[in-house]
Amino acid sequence: MITVHWFARRAVLAVRLVYMKTREAVETAYWRTFAFLRAAPSRIRNRAAKLWIGTDLSMKRLSFRPSRKTNRSGPELVTGGYVDLNEVRKFSMLDVRVLRQLQKAARKGKGGIFDVGPYIGGSTVAMASGHRGRRKHVVIEVGGAYPDQPFLPSLDIIGDLEANLSRYGLLECVSIYQGWSNDPAVFEPSIRELGTIGLFFFDANGAVAEQLAICAPYMEENCTVILDDINTEQSKAALVLPTLNRLIAKGALIEDRVIQGTWFGRLGKADRQAFAHYKHETGYAWLMRAPNPEHWRVELFEDGRPIGPTCALHDEVRAVGMGAWSHWVLSGVPIVLFSTSDNSDPNENGRRYVLESYPKAGAEPQ
Ligand SMILES: C[S@@+](CC[C@H](N)C(=O)[O-])C[C@H]1O[C@@H](n2cnc3c(N)ncnc32)[C@H](O)[C@@H]1O
Repeated sequence: MITVHWFARRAVLAVRLVYMKTREAVETAYWRTFAFLRAAPSRIRNRAAKLWIGTDLSMKRLSFRPSRKTNRSGPELVTGGYVDLNEVRKFSMLDVRVLRQLQKAARKGKGGIFDVGPYIGGSTVAMASGHRGRRKHVVIEVGGAYPDQPFLPSLDIIGDLEANLSRYGLLECVSIYQGWSNDPAVFEPSIRELGTIGLFFFDANGAVAEQLAICAPYMEENCTVILDDINTEQSKAALVLPTLNRLIAKGALIEDRVIQGTWFGRLGKADRQAFAHYKHETGYAWLMRAPNPEHWRVELFEDGRPIGPTCALHDEVRAVGMGAWSHWVLSGVPIVLFSTSDNSDPNENGRRYVLESYPKAGAEPQ
């Protein structure tokens, strides 16, 4: 009896192994053939595609192609093979079902991909294997080392990220920016490269409200939004969930599904002002991005009504508030330090704050 059971188990394992190896070989041959067809001169390519698939529809399928390098040495083919997400899972903190959905979202949609918090690359490999260079994809990671991570320690996060992308031939399908995603010195060049955002993915430090506020003006209609850390067992959920619930209630985000603590949805039709998020400074003072006061004069409106006093002392904004505000440059970043008319929280009071800017006479606006 034991022998029969032993043989049966071995037979099942052997069949599974043959199945997996065959699947891998077929998928790799598939991608290599596409790469070959794309590299061939167009006449040969057209004939081959017609012979192979039978109709002109084949050219549409060719758009399902291996990626083009978009940076460094210019366009180049990458002949990526089949990417087994069960293998990718081994260097990701995300569940394989989440990785599968990320891959699908990157493959199906259009527009640039804004990807914050890849760590050593699990989520990024999943997405890049979906688009294979058909979409611009910027990745922002602060980097450093995390030797105490219990399952996936890293002594060089950016180095491991690049190595994992290279392993799958996907390094040239993404542009990596090292630094904090809310830092203008990192965000601005990355968004300049991307143009607009068709997929926003955030699996970082929980500061999603601020990142969405920064990114909202660049998001395309129907932009796909994917946010991790909504599982209440994780401490970051305390930051992510209230933001998410607030934005869903305002119609700014629409939920499609939740998989293993990762939220999948898209941009709603609501006014993008719904994403506005103000960082708390001290006391009654909040921070808002602003144009350079050297070249611009600004006016602040609360629900359409101007508030003030303007040019208030910072300590007055912090300690007294009641609508006092000041336009200033703080550590090289132009800001408005403001308070609301009744000292309520501007992120929660449901009012709309608009900063109108006018170029100063004689100054060159920048
Ligand atoms: C939970 S891990 C990401 C896991 C990854 N998505 C995966 O598939 O395994 C979060 C990563 O985000 C990075 N990070 C946190 N806040 C960031 C920020 N504001 N900008 C850039 N990187 C950030 C951390 O360094 C860390 O590597």
